[in-house]
Order: sequence, then structure tokens, then C-alpha cells
Amino acid sequence: LLSVCAFAGIAQAGVIDDAVKRGTLRVGMDPTYMPFEMTNKRGEIIGFEVDLLKAMTKAMGVKLELVSTSYDGIIPALLTDKFDMIGSGMTLTQERNLRINFSEPFIVVGQTLLIRKELADKVKSYKDLNSADYRITSKIGTTGEMVAKKLIAQAKYSGFDNEQEAVMDVVNGKADAFIYDAPYNVVAVNKAGAGKLVFLDQPFTFEPLAFGLKKGDYDSINWINNWLHQIREDGTYDRIHAKWFKS
Ligand code: ARG
Repeated sequence: LLSVCAFAGIAQAGVIDDAVKRGTLRVGMDPTYMPFEMTNKRGEIIGFEVDLLKAMTKAMGVKLELVSTSYDGIIPALLTDKFDMIGSGMTLTQERNLRINFSEPFIVVGQTLLIRKELADKVKSYKDLNSADYRITSKIGTTGEMVAKKLIAQAKYSGFDNEQEAVMDVVNGKADAFIYDAPYNVVAVNKAGAGKLVFLDQPFTFEPLAFGLKKGDYDSINWINNWLHQIREDGTYDRIHAKWFKS
């Protein structure tokens, strides 16, 4: 009985406890998701979620280590201990939640569309794209891809490893529409050059973004959720949000 209790005690400590002992929290992310995690000209990874993670690790008293990981393999990488936690703009889906645990959401987003300017009169919603005449694109392994295959199933779909390449396909007329999370498209439509793309900015899915942890680590989930409540009330969240999002 004693050894069973001792084992249970260790098992319940979790990745946050380990990080405190080690002095570092390792967070897996694919830094291509504006304005949450992206690489600046000096090669530094910056963004809204990066700033949240900096505040989180500061409260923990540890260093933040960002582990760049392709989005497609990010859950397997978590499950094989390449890092402690996923912090990569990840939508909490019921399908993913069967494989990993999630913290409470830190923001809610939804899918939107960037379409070829020439289609502006014909295409007013994702429903208008649901025909074999249209080619749509998104990023491999994301909810954009899942939603494209589910809600716009008649269209021809091709995915990219990188959001930017997928957007360029629409800019160059090789694809008709890019389906992706609203905050990314807000930034992308301005970057890709005004007049080339039309932004259908009404989100048509409900997507809470949250931190992902291995199953069973409730101690760490508890710490993160309580920290999220704290920063929402003490002004930290609003300050960081205002830095990266207009209005
Ligand atoms: N929210 C979307 C998803 O969970 C896209 C996230 C992409 N994140 C990234 N770091 N590129 O699939």
C-alpha cells in the first residue's frame, strides 16, 4: 500500500512540477501562426501566445524554452516527451481531446476565408465554395483543413505545411480560397497586399484555443487554469492582448 501511494504521489506531480525542479518549461509550437507565434527579422519567436507563455513562466519562476515543431506532428511530439506542453494556437477539438488534455481556453477564434478578388460577387460564404469548381487550401493538420474537408467537401482541397505558401496560392490564382483562423487572416490580408484578396471575416466555426498537455496531468492543468483566472482579472491578459490585437 505504501509503495502504491508513493507512486501515485510522483505521478500526480506533473510537468509543471518537473519544470520548476528543472528551471525550464519546454513548450512545443509551430511559429508560423500570426499574431500568436511568429519569427521576426532577427529570428526571434514573438507573438501574443509567446507573451502569455513568458508571463506564465515568470509566475512559475522558470525559463521558457520554445521547441519549434511542425504542426502536423505536434501531438505525437508531446506524447513522446519532446516538450512539456503544446502552446501553438491549438483549437480544443473533441477529437484531439480524446488524445490529450487541455487547459481552459485563452481565446476563442473561428474559421474565415481569404478568397480570390475575382470571386467576390459569387462567393459570400463557405457554402458557396462547396462545389468541384473550386480549389481550396489551408495548412496541413489544422482545423482549417478539417473544416475544409467536412463543410466544403465538394471542393478540391490541397494543404500546405506553411500558412504563407497557402495564402500565396490564392494570391497567384492557383487556389480560390484559403480557409483559416480569423486572427491569422486579419494579418495575412494586409500583408499579402490590399486589393488581391477579399476577406470573408465572419467566423463560421467555434474554436477555443488552449494549452495542450499529456493525459492525466491534472496538477499542471490546475496550475495553468488558476493562473489564467489570475491574469484575466489582474490586467495582465488585457495588456498582452492589447499589444497584439487592435481594438
Ligand atoms: N487553431 C488551428 C488548429 O488548431 C491552427 C493552429 C495553427 N498553429 C500554428 N502554430 N501554426 O488547428
